[in-house]
Amino acid sequence: MYPPTTPEQHFASPRLRALRAEFVRHFGDSAGTRLVRAPGRVNLIGDHTDYNGLPVFPMAIQRDMAILFRLRFDGEIRLHNTDPHFAPRRFHLGPEIAPEAQGDWGNYLRAAGQAIFRAHGSLLGIDGVVSGDVPVASGLSSSSALVVACGLALVVANDIKTSSEELAVLLAEGERYVGAEIGGMDQAISLGGQRNAAFRIDFNPLRLQRTPVPPDWTFIVASSLVRAPKSGSARNVYNARTRECREALDAFLDHPKVPGEIDGYEALVGTLSLGEILAVAVQALQNPLLKRLRHTVTEAARVADARAAMLRDDPETFGQLMTSSHRSLRDDYDVSCPELDELVEISLDSGAYGARLTGAGLGGCAVALCRSDSVEPVLAALRRHYYEGRTYEGALDDHLLAAQPSDGASLVELEP
Ligand code: GLA
Repeated sequence: MYPPTTPEQHFASPRLRALRAEFVRHFGDSAGTRLVRAPGRVNLIGDHTDYNGLPVFPMAIQRDMAILFRLRFDGEIRLHNTDPHFAPRRFHLGPEIAPEAQGDWGNYLRAAGQAIFRAHGSLLGIDGVVSGDVPVASGLSSSSALVVACGLALVVANDIKTSSEELAVLLAEGERYVGAEIGGMDQAISLGGQRNAAFRIDFNPLRLQRTPVPPDWTFIVASSLVRAPKSGSARNVYNARTRECREALDAFLDHPKVPGEIDGYEALVGTLSLGEILAVAVQALQNPLLKRLRHTVTEAARVADARAAMLRDDPETFGQLMTSSHRSLRDDYDVSCPELDELVEISLDSGAYGARLTGAGLGGCAVALCRSDSVEPVLAALRRHYYEGRTYEGALDDHLLAAQPSDGASLVELEP
């Protein structure tokens, strides 16, 4: 469940004061308020595998979405955002909540509200203020962090008994409300992350395997500055890939050499070796389906190999797997872009063990693995060769950061 945590340093801070001040401004006073937070994530390896039931390997990061909220005794949700880009949103909880316009941030709140309502029945609402520092539409899962924070606020407000795995599955399904046929990685790691650890996550049923990140491994996250919102422009490509994967599997399973009992990707990689799968695939499939299936099955194998490499403190192998993953996402899955390729090349040229795009791709961030002695050179090279001469909103620290493996979502204990 959600044991209250001690206040994180950043909440004993201007951010909490700003949240409280906004709450008072909109709702009169802050008596009886509670605070939940849900982190973003960086996926270290295993992208575009989760919706096929294959494993992923993310960690939660230090950036999060927080909601200071108070119960209201009706079914209304009223949420403000400390970021003026996001106008206040309100709606009534129910089993069929009509969406806002496509791409509107309120749809993530509605997604959480509808999912929790459908699973747990009639609910009390909340007044709240949202404050987030996960870069938006950057492949760091700001949207799922918002869905999880809102879902958790409703769980706490209504005193719902559920496990974090149940909630992760419910909210992953619920987030499809915004129209992208997503898998369950982002919600699972936002709820289940732990300090100093990455997790191999398997699906159906959801299972998380903790993997300590060696203390001198640093994952640098670098934004391409190309926005790729899954609720907007990236949605069609994302959904096209999920469809192509289903078509590729159907065509593969029709091949006479494939045993009849295989009914999905997980059974496929559990039954045939990678070599056997690829040998049949070249006979059974044509491009682009051949490339999509090849990425899917090789990426699943890379997840297993990468976790083993992390467990034995072998950054060379982990890095090589990351770079192979990037090439596969670029060449077989067609979800990279020139800017992400450039970030990967700069990282590799300046001493990273490996680098790849992270998340859905088409923009967003790259992630690079360094040891303590290569962190500064890689950061310096990225600053100089990528960010100098480009314009970006806010501070460079919002676009280029060393990710800290962090705790998952929680109810934060507030000083009275
Ligand atoms: C998005 C989705 C995830 C996953 C990744 C790609 O983040 O929300 O479920 O599919 O893309 O790995």
